Amino acid sequence: MNMKIATDKWDGYPHVLGAGAFSKRWLQRFFGKVEDMEQRFRKGMCDNILRNKKLILIFSEPSTRTSTFLTIAAQNLGANVIDIRDPENLSSMIKGEPFTEMIQVLSRGLHYGSVNGAPQGVIAIRHKKEGTARLATQFSCVPIINAGDGKGEHPTQGLLDVCTIQRIFGKISGLSFALAGDLLNGRTVHTLPLLLSKFDDIKMFFVSPPELAMPKDIKEELRARDVQFAESTDLREVAPHVDVIYQTRTQRERGSELDKNDRSLGYFIIDRTVLDLMKQDAIIMHPLPKVPGDTTLEVDQSRAAVYFTDQLDASIITKMTLFEMMFFPEE
Ligand code: CP
Repeated sequence: MNMKIATDKWDGYPHVLGAGAFSKRWLQRFFGKVEDMEQRFRKGMCDNILRNKKLILIFSEPSTRTSTFLTIAAQNLGANVIDIRDPENLSSMIKGEPFTEMIQVLSRGLHYGSVNGAPQGVIAIRHKKEGTARLATQFSCVPIINAGDGKGEHPTQGLLDVCTIQRIFGKISGLSFALAGDLLNGRTVHTLPLLLSKFDDIKMFFVSPPELAMPKDIKEELRARDVQFAESTDLREVAPHVDVIYQTRTQRERGSELDKNDRSLGYFIIDRTVLDLMKQDAIIMHPLPKVPGDTTLEVDQSRAAVYFTDQLDASIITKMTLFEMMFFPEE
C-alpha cells in the first residue's frame, strides 16, 4: 500500500525540469487544483496572489505559445514579467558572459527581499541544448522552469497535455494514444508518454519512420513500467484503435527532413481518411506550431481537433496553477 501523503511539492521542487518529477498522485492533485484555480479566477479571486513576484523568461530558441502563455498566466495572477529573448545576441552574453553566470546574477536579483527564503521570482528557460535548465538549477537561488531544452523535455507542455485529456475524458487510465511524426527530435512527445505511463492500462502507438522513432531510453522506461506500446509507420492502421492522436511537426531546426507527403515512408498526415477511421469520441491534439502537412484544414475545423481550443485553455490555467503551487505550496 502506498502510504505517501499527497502534497503540492513534486520531486525536485521547486524546479520544474521533466516528467520524472510528477507522480500519478501528484498529477491527480494537480488536476483538482486546476479546476479550483479556474473557479477562483472566474470569480476574480486570483488577480493579486502573485503581487510583487516576478517571472524572468530566458528564451534562446523561438517561441510563440510557451513564452506568451507563461506571461499571460503570471500576469493573470498579478506577477511582473521580464522577457530576455535571444540572450546570445541581445544580453551581455554577446560580450562573453557565460550563461551560468547570467543565471547566477539574475536569480540573485529576483531573490532580493525574500523573507525566510520564500521565492520572490522564478526563471523559465528555453534552450537548444538538452540539460540546460537542469544545469541552471546549480547556479540559481530561485526556481527554474524548463520551457523546452533541445530534444529533451517540455514539462509545462506535458502538464497542459495531460490536463486537456483529463478534462475531455474525465480520466486518463484506460485510454489509448497514437503519437505521430518526428518522435526522435520532438520534445513534447518525450514528456507526454512518460507522464501518461504513470496511469493504469495505457496503450500507446508510436507512428513515425524508423529513423525518427521514439528514443530507446523512453521505450526502455515504458517497458520497465509494463506500459504497452507498439510502433507503426501508418496512421490509418492505428487511428481506429486510439482515443487520442497526438500529431507533431518535423523538427527541421534539429536536422530532421521528414516529408509527410512522401508516401514511401508511411502515412503520417491527419486528413479526411484518418478522420473517418477514428473512434467517434476520439480527439486530435498537437502541441503547435503546426506546419503544412501535419493536418488538413478540414481536420482543423473538425470536432475532434482540440489544439486551437481546449489545449490552449489548459495551457493558461495549468501554468497559473503551477505558479501558485511553486510560490505557495500546501503540505
Ligand atoms: N508548444 C510550444 O512549445 O510552442 P512554442 O514553441 O510556440 O512555445
